[in-house]
Amino acid sequence: MRPELQRRVQRYGWDYSSPHYEEGWQHQLWPAQERLLRAANLKAGEKVLDISCGTGLVTFPIAEAVGAAGQVTGIDLSEEMIKKAAPIADKKGLSHVSFKHMDAEELDLPDGAFDAAINSLGLMYYPDPDKAVQEMHRVLKPGGRSAALVWGRRGACGWAEIFPIVDRRVNTDVCPLFFQLGTGETLQKTFEKAGFTEIKSERFNIDLHYDTDREAIIGAFLGGAVALAYRKFDEKTKDEAHGEYLDSIAQFRNENGYDIPGEFVITSGVKNEKL
Ligand SMILES: C[S@@+](CC[C@H](N)C(=O)[O-])C[C@H]1O[C@@H](n2cnc3c(N)ncnc32)[C@H](O)[C@@H]1O
Repeated sequence: MRPELQRRVQRYGWDYSSPHYEEGWQHQLWPAQERLLRAANLKAGEKVLDISCGTGLVTFPIAEAVGAAGQVTGIDLSEEMIKKAAPIADKKGLSHVSFKHMDAEELDLPDGAFDAAINSLGLMYYPDPDKAVQEMHRVLKPGGRSAALVWGRRGACGWAEIFPIVDRRVNTDVCPLFFQLGTGETLQKTFEKAGFTEIKSERFNIDLHYDTDREAIIGAFLGGAVALAYRKFDEKTKDEAHGEYLDSIAQFRNENGYDIPGEFVITSGVKNEKL
């Protein structure tokens, strides 16, 4: 897929998914996001960039970690995501948090401006994740830290059939290289190429709980970039696709709903002090 087309699919897909994202993913992702925040080791008073901030699920905990003496900037390619996040900051009285519409591969931010740069579940969606990690490195102060969370291997993510189920019906790849970064040492190597030192990686599993079929369907079809393709399906196509998806996760059904396995990778690194 051409990079420009991929960016448009992402931008408008996430715009369309923005009202549903938290319903589909907020509770499910928190254990992984919390682990990312621990890896980032944020301190009071720091200036932090949250790349691909979405509705702010990680931005607001960052704001709490750095406190009012700190400063947090959330950026995202989807304007609708930003439009959801910004009023929440106002409502919470967080004047040290701001949001900007921006592409992670071309950060419109000065060199050496941040103590830490966080990326929670954004990198898999970019046409050129290497470039985005280089940008994370560029905007850090010497000694600044980056931490990124990505999904792990396709075979370890029980919800992964959503992509072929949707792609078959639109004849395209909505997220062409989605699972590549979470395979082997790919993310770690991306950090090395960007010039990070003290790189650490961890791979871990978390079950994603959904109480009902409806919740699982919302997460998969409306809670992500496939939402753009899905909204054009007629009712019959939607019903067929829902059925196929529920079949694909049936093995994870239990008396409480679904516990769908998810694998994640976190990589963190430090920008060399001497740069
Ligand atoms: C799975 S959501 C993650 C949101 C949030 N970080 C979280 O952990 O809940 C992925 C986000 O990546 C954003 N995104 C996709 N492509 C992007 C790009 N090229 N630049 C910046 N953000 C992008 C989407 O708009 C979406 O908000």
